[in-house]
Amino acid sequence: KNSPAQLAIVQKRCKSTYGPLKDEDRIFTNLYGRHDWKLKGAMSRGDWYKTKEIILKGHDWILKEITTSGLRGRGGAGFPTGMKWGFMNKPSDGRPKYLVVNADEGEPGTCKDREIMRHDPHKLVEGCLVAGRSMGACAAYIYIRGEFYNEASNLQVAINEAYAAGLIGKNACGSGYDFDVYVHRGAGAYICGEETSLIESLEGKAGKPRLKPPFPADVGVFGCPTTVANVETVAVAPVICRRGGEWFAGFGRERNRGTKLFNISGQVNNPVTVEEEMSISLKELIERHAGGVIGGWDNLLGVIPGGSSTPIIPKSVCTDVLMDFDGLVQAQTALGTAAVIVMNKDADVIRCISRLIEFYKHESCGQCTPCREGVGWMAKIMKRFETGNFQEGEIDMLYEISKQIEGHTICALGDGAAWPVQGLIRHYRPELLERIEQFKQKQQKKATA
Ligand code: NAI
Ligand code: SF4
Repeated sequence: KNSPAQLAIVQKRCKSTYGPLKDEDRIFTNLYGRHDWKLKGAMSRGDWYKTKEIILKGHDWILKEITTSGLRGRGGAGFPTGMKWGFMNKPSDGRPKYLVVNADEGEPGTCKDREIMRHDPHKLVEGCLVAGRSMGACAAYIYIRGEFYNEASNLQVAINEAYAAGLIGKNACGSGYDFDVYVHRGAGAYICGEETSLIESLEGKAGKPRLKPPFPADVGVFGCPTTVANVETVAVAPVICRRGGEWFAGFGRERNRGTKLFNISGQVNNPVTVEEEMSISLKELIERHAGGVIGGWDNLLGVIPGGSSTPIIPKSVCTDVLMDFDGLVQAQTALGTAAVIVMNKDADVIRCISRLIEFYKHESCGQCTPCREGVGWMAKIMKRFETGNFQEGEIDMLYEISKQIEGHTICALGDGAAWPVQGLIRHYRPELLERIEQFKQKQQKKATA
């Protein structure tokens, strides 16, 4: 459990303590402390405690704890972590195995991994060792978004400290296990957050996604078995091993276990990154931790619940929805990166979605036609939707274009561009029709002036 001294820091600094998740159960306590992220501070918070014992228990034991915990990937897709890391336990024909940490956090609205690397880098470095051991990897490459200059620097300091203290490198923690950790900086391409594109970039090539299968667990970086895992997923592994998979599985509900970092941004009184129990209700999350919607809950227009790729949901849905994988799928959206973007009635929802589509158009790598051409068309149409200069029939045409992109591309970027448009059309058709009327009225005024 967190020490009394650490609890005091959290309770003093965390803007709202005692959500459903008690402070003594928070994993990322230094997000609120914002100081002393180096080795001494990290150790005082319990990092690197009995890591040698965890490593000596071996890969089967670590995998068992991770599987028992019910942890699912925190990068967006939610793939069961125990199963994914278990894919590495196959004969590799003498090829070395690698862990690649996806720290290329580029999803608009998302900054949870940035917070971990900025304030808790040792959690990630220790996580690399524990996760690496579970899959028999010899090294971890942390591929970090190029714009995260300070975070890359903190991470490198933490790695240097860990090497100097004998925690990683040859005979890591005195366990007899050799494990290296490297930081590799990206260069600002959103698509390099897609795992196969990231691998290409790490190999020194242009970041263009590969067709899957083969999955990285069979052919990954440098042609070797590789697991690409998100920062948060890796960083929670040591705590799960220390406190036990059962402890982690005690939070949330069936298929949606554990604690989770949520970013809450947009039109709220107190934008925040906070750790909470999975399956907390969206309304409680916003009201308890982000100080509520500006203008009150009645002033809410809609929420993008899991980063820009996830479809927006209107207020009527937001009131009861649970923040987990299943709750949000039921609401025809997704947990994604758990980056909650709140819009109140001052927001122009059509313009917001149009801006997002412009982003996807810019970031498409151009390899496949439905994404390269289709997202470009959607961006053009959305620009006209912003002004109201369009015909009603074009709403269904835009929906159809988005359906032709969804599921027909090499990587998930195409889907990520299609889903926000679908959410807009599903829930905000009256606003779209009103925009046409406004445009017509403007034209009439001009004609009569
Ligand atoms: P995915 O569902 O294709 O894969 C999830 C993971 O499971 C991958 O690591 C994949 O290799 C592994 N996997 C799946 N089936 C497998 C099999 N049969 N054998 C071996 N391994 C298997 O999803 P993907 O494309 O990795 O991620 C898409 C998500 O990423 C989106 O839902 C979006 O929310 C999120 N995203 C996150 C961003 C961020 O900044 N964190 C940026 C953009 C998107
Ligand atoms: Fe590139 Fe888009 Fe195809 Fe992904 S979906 S491979 S980003 S063109």
